[in-house]
Amino acid sequence: MATLSSTSALFFSFTLLYFNLISASFTPLTHYLINCGSPQPTTVDFDHRHFTGDVSSSFLSSTGTISLTDQYPSPKSSPIYHTTRVFTRPSKYKFVIKNPGAHLVRLHFRRLKSDFDFSNAKFHVLANEFVLFNSLSMEMGQDFEIVKDYVIGVDSDVLVITFVPSDKSNFGFVNAIEVISAPNDLIADVAQYVKFDKNEQIHGLLKNGFETMYRVNVGGWKVTPFNDSLWRTWVTDDEYLKSNDGLSKVHFGGRINYQDGGASREVGPDNVYNSARVIRSSGNSIPELNMTWTFPVIGGYKYLVRMHFCDIASVARGMLYFNVYVNNNLAYENLDLTEVTNRLLASPFYADFVVDGDSSGVLTLSVGPSNMSLPRAVDAILNGVEILKINNSVGSFDGEICAHAVLKSWKRGNGNVVYPMLAAVFLLLIAFVIMHRRRAGVTDSVAWGRLPMEIPEVNLKYGNQLSSNKL
Ligand SMILES: *[C@@H]1O[C@H](CO)[C@@H](O)[C@H](O)[C@H]1NC(C)=O
Ligand SMILES: *[C@@H]1O[C@H](CO)[C@@H](O)[C@H](O)[C@H]1NC(C)=O
Ligand SMILES: *[C@@H]1O[C@H](CO)[C@@H](O)[C@H](O)[C@H]1NC(C)=O
Ligand SMILES: *[C@@H]1O[C@H](CO)[C@@H](O)[C@H](O)[C@H]1NC(C)=O
Repeated sequence: MATLSSTSALFFSFTLLYFNLISASFTPLTHYLINCGSPQPTTVDFDHRHFTGDVSSSFLSSTGTISLTDQYPSPKSSPIYHTTRVFTRPSKYKFVIKNPGAHLVRLHFRRLKSDFDFSNAKFHVLANEFVLFNSLSMEMGQDFEIVKDYVIGVDSDVLVITFVPSDKSNFGFVNAIEVISAPNDLIADVAQYVKFDKNEQIHGLLKNGFETMYRVNVGGWKVTPFNDSLWRTWVTDDEYLKSNDGLSKVHFGGRINYQDGGASREVGPDNVYNSARVIRSSGNSIPELNMTWTFPVIGGYKYLVRMHFCDIASVARGMLYFNVYVNNNLAYENLDLTEVTNRLLASPFYADFVVDGDSSGVLTLSVGPSNMSLPRAVDAILNGVEILKINNSVGSFDGEICAHAVLKSWKRGNGNVVYPMLAAVFLLLIAFVIMHRRRAGVTDSVAWGRLPMEIPEVNLKYGNQLSSNKL
């Protein structure tokens, strides 16, 4: 393990040759923001983004869908949660992709107050060959929002997101969809694979998909999509920090020195790098202490752990050395932030580790003083953490069933010929119930955007596509 430091330091320091301060902002080539179930052409969310409605849009190709509108929406919830599209049979959104490569896919869910029994919402969601999830527990109370956040490699010119009800008595739904092309430097193809008996470089990460489990701003405030150039949310770390004893928080009011070849603003925004937690030695001895965070994870998957560092706390260069542990294994010995940032303070750096989620059900991250740590200095720092689940060998983030089998199971279980009829009967029944209740003077929280719609399958390659939504 002791030999690790010099070789991996080389690997982690990227190309240090052409460091320049950079400030160009990122504009995605492909950028779809869809407010599902909305008849309005545009809806502006709390982060000032424009979402397009999907009623009679060219993305949605399905017949068995219903759009619902919340008549009495909570003013505290973003307008993208005020409408929903419901799927009574497999339904697809097709997005034309301008440049193959990694794409951010974000799905928003919140059950509406309605006559719909959302306990019957049980469905699979696929994105091209990936199974994003198999069902979502929306039963536990209706007033919260669920955002599922992924990075998916797209190697064709179309990304198809498919909603498949678990069986014919179930339905699927979604409130909003984001599909955004990722900057090239967001996911690197290599990382260090850390286990108790090994710490080695692995390649080929880019062929995987990733689901965000945790995105944490250590020692700082919550960061909302408004302040993140990829519209991500970073939560605070208090909940995950094992103990606060002997640690302190740091905030930095100066400018973060983003450099070419280092972590970009898309990798981590200013608000993540300008706050941190640190271990500091005030006297002549170095604290015997680690800062430790624990994150619940599900076993049977690999996780990509990205740790964000930015030395905003040292008074001079070359004074901060520390060790990084992943699941109590030494992942990086004597990390010297001065060296990996081309001798610039307040310059961001990140390290990627791949770990196996084990049966313990937790992933543990620590940073602490190393043999080279100095007294009267900062002796460990962490600014941010991301933990991304990597899909399993069948391309799933949720179980052992592949996308192909999910689609086949619907056909087998429901019979190709009957399901459109069943769906029609289902829709009529609901319409009847609602009209009946209206007449009976029952106030309804559901408005019908449109009853069963026929949307012709269009070939999106030539059909009209949504123009980019720029902020
Ligand atoms: C964005 O960041 C600035 C600076 O940290 C902060 O003052 C502001 O409240 C943030 N805005 C939102 C919407 O989070
Ligand atoms: C810090 O954590 C590592 C890994 O679990 C452990 O080996 C080391 O003893 C810890 N140091 C202290 C001072 O607790
Ligand atoms: C650092 O100290 C540990 C014991 O605390 C020792 O096992 C290890 O070899 C030392 N590493 C170096 C590079 O001296
Ligand atoms: C994730 O899915 C891709 C595409 O199906 C596959 O090539 C890759 O091997 C999967 N990852 C793992 C860790 O099995």
